[in-house]
Amino acid sequence: MVWDIWVRMGHWLVVLLIGFQVYSGEDMALRDRHAWAGIALLVWVVFRIGWGFWGTRHARFADFVGSPRRIIESFKKLGRRQHEAVPGHTHAGGAGVIVLMALIALMAVTGLFASDDLMFDGPLSHFVGSANSSLITQVHHITSKVLILTVLGHVLAIFWHQRLMKEPLIQGMIHGRKAGGHERFGTAVLVRGGLWLLLATLVVVAGLMRVGQFQ
Ligand code: HEM
Ligand code: HEM
Repeated sequence: MVWDIWVRMGHWLVVLLIGFQVYSGEDMALRDRHAWAGIALLVWVVFRIGWGFWGTRHARFADFVGSPRRIIESFKKLGRRQHEAVPGHTHAGGAGVIVLMALIALMAVTGLFASDDLMFDGPLSHFVGSANSSLITQVHHITSKVLILTVLGHVLAIFWHQRLMKEPLIQGMIHGRKAGGHERFGTAVLVRGGLWLLLATLVVVAGLMRVGQFQ
């Protein structure tokens, strides 16, 4: 195995939630749900950062974050369709993962301070005042476009691997197995991940409930 259950469930949940965010961002009637789905994405970011340090082997940042030189080399190999014998993310893929995580974090955090100037104020917008909130809402808008473009790049890269290089990465993200991956995940991983997810949820939600203003 390469990807534990938390990485896989997290990934497909993120796909659904981002899809919902892009759909609901434009719809005033869905503002509340948009806010809660955004907070769920923030929980995922916190969870995934922690899992990047004390998660399973290939989920760790140390396994896939490379120096700029290695990232460029890895992109060059991808362009030449040269297979890289690494079970986890390649350095190019790892760079993509970090950018995606950072953009999702930026979306979730700016959302908390955003306002549509009509019906909805983000739960932390009262901390910054209406002028700053408008500015932050602009950042929320612009970042959403950058996120959508990055997701397109990500999906394109996956199809490049999948179709042109005949590497079954999508199946890997479903059942967890990839060539060269020999990890075994027992109940300990299930429990450790579950406890950490619970803690991340409690900290984010309780923190926001304490300092935020929810209408
Ligand atoms: C909103 C859309 C998406 C986002 C935000 C997203 C984000 C991510 C992230 C953060 C990872 C790293 C997972 C981790 O290490 O925890 C990842 C990996 C991956 N994603 Fe996505 N993803 C999206 C859509 C898709 C779609 C539509 C597919 C398939 C068609 C896909 C296939 C994959 C695969 C196969 C990997 C693992 C790559 C590898 O083996 O190194 N993703 N994605
Ligand atoms: C990763 C999480 C999030 C994503 C991907 C996301 C995405 C989006 C998108 C695509 C839009 C429409 C932008 C446009 O029309 O150009 C939007 C608008 C908006 N979002 Fe989010 N959002 C996220 C989190 C949040 C959170 C946590 C909140 C509040 C708690 C929030 C509050 C808002 C508001 C108030 C608007 C409307 C702004 C306006 O009318 O100008 N978002 N979001």
